[in-house]
Amino acid sequence: MSSYGLLLVLEGGEGVGKTTQWQRLSTRLAESGAEVLALREPGGTPSGDTIRSLLLDPASQLSASTEALLFAASRAELVAQAVRPALERGVIVLLDRYLLSTYVYQGDARGLPMAGLRAINRFATDGLVPDCTLLLKLPLSESLARTHARGSPDRLEQEARSFHERVARGFDAAGDPAWQSAHPECGPIVPVLAEGSPDQVALRCLAVLSARWPSRFSELVPAFR
Ligand code: TYD
Repeated sequence: MSSYGLLLVLEGGEGVGKTTQWQRLSTRLAESGAEVLALREPGGTPSGDTIRSLLLDPASQLSASTEALLFAASRAELVAQAVRPALERGVIVLLDRYLLSTYVYQGDARGLPMAGLRAINRFATDGLVPDCTLLLKLPLSESLARTHARGSPDRLEQEARSFHERVARGFDAAGDPAWQSAHPECGPIVPVLAEGSPDQVALRCLAVLSARWPSRFSELVPAFR
């Protein structure tokens, strides 16, 4: 096996439990002896965190194209400063969101043209394709109820239900192999049922990884051997 690392991404709408799984997976992989770098988008670098504050602050007034460019700027910084150097050292990089979020939130939900989003993100990522994206799926009513229960919604969470419906439809479309063939820059995307306890969802995520990379991950899921 090459010493190059793996780029794994967790995706999904608000309130699907993505960040919980991101934390669990990074802990589980680290416990198994793997070197893991867990980073979130937007953010993950000092400049990216500044951009994140601007993007999520409900007081920020941003046009849709400015929003897309700021997500891409945060991503460019993350890829250049953190992700690529780690992959070159053989590290497993686990990202909480990446390019697919832009296609879904700024493309499907905001309605920005895909050609422009593709171009700015090709520039931002320099063509860095995830090895696998785990797409967490939960019915919208359930995920929105969880988000509301958390309180203090950020700028994106405050969007109307119709916005989140378009996000959900965008993620649904991305689970389709035909969509993935038409968007090779997103890499393989595997839908994972996010219902049930965090442990059950974590096991499903680990099962996907162990099926794709048996020699690397199968010892993490004894129940699936
Ligand atoms: P965050 O607090 O990280 O939310 P979550 O826990 O749901 O990931 O906020 C990130 C928000 O930014 C989230 O609403 C999704 C949105 N987003 C985009 O609109 N475009 C993007 O490219 C990315 C990475 C995130």
